[in-house]
Amino acid sequence: MKAPIGIFDSGIGGLSLLPAISELLPQENLIYLADQAFAPYGQKTESAILKRTQQICDQLVKMECKLIVVACNTVTTQVIDQLRAEFTLPFVGIEPAIKPAAQQSKNKIIGVLATQGTLQSTLYKQSAFRYAAACKIVEKPGTGLVDHIEKGDLQSRDLCRLVEQSLRPMIDEGIDTLILGCTHYPLIRSLIEEFLPKEIQIIDNSHSVAKQLQRKLVEQCLETTTTEPGQITYYSTARHHHMDVFVNQSIDYLPL
Ligand code: DGL
Repeated sequence: MKAPIGIFDSGIGGLSLLPAISELLPQENLIYLADQAFAPYGQKTESAILKRTQQICDQLVKMECKLIVVACNTVTTQVIDQLRAEFTLPFVGIEPAIKPAAQQSKNKIIGVLATQGTLQSTLYKQSAFRYAAACKIVEKPGTGLVDHIEKGDLQSRDLCRLVEQSLRPMIDEGIDTLILGCTHYPLIRSLIEEFLPKEIQIIDNSHSVAKQLQRKLVEQCLETTTTEPGQITYYSTARHHHMDVFVNQSIDYLPL
């Protein structure tokens, strides 16, 4: 049995990273854990997120994961340093892709759509200061978006209204680059594109996370050496959820 890579998010958002990860590392076994009993994380306090994610990481360690991917910007930007300090296995996180956005933006006006927790975090602010000091950054919390996506709603009228409300101020400020700074948002990328003028480019860093994961596996000598295809096992901490809108296989209930 190959030791799996554990991947977790507050809910289904982290699923947006799986295509890039499976494409780059098709032999790896993956465990995807959606903490839907405690979702959304975006407006929870840092201490509540830390306590909950410690429990999740304990669980992934019990499942013999060799590495943990924090498939959540809110968790990465707030508590990944504490998790790294507490657990001995390696971590890979995801945070808003400020550096590539600053490099790719022509007019140096960048929009960041993320949760309130991410936008208020020290790590996010440091990255913005370090990599985009020459840019104007228009930040907007995607209030309510995660709740709709978690219900499997990808196109209702209410969701469209919220997407438009989030994007409008950024479009009005003249952004030419939009960072999707929450892993849930790529799941409604086509809806976002409907409201976004064509010339605005969208930055979604799932491929950079997959590459970073590959580098970390090599660096720590943790890549699987077998050639048979890896399996993905899905768990949710909620008994009732809408993950089957996105996942075409059984999802195990994991009370936590
Ligand atoms: N998908 C998460 C992120 O990337 C968390 C969203 C939430 O639970 O509010 O930030």
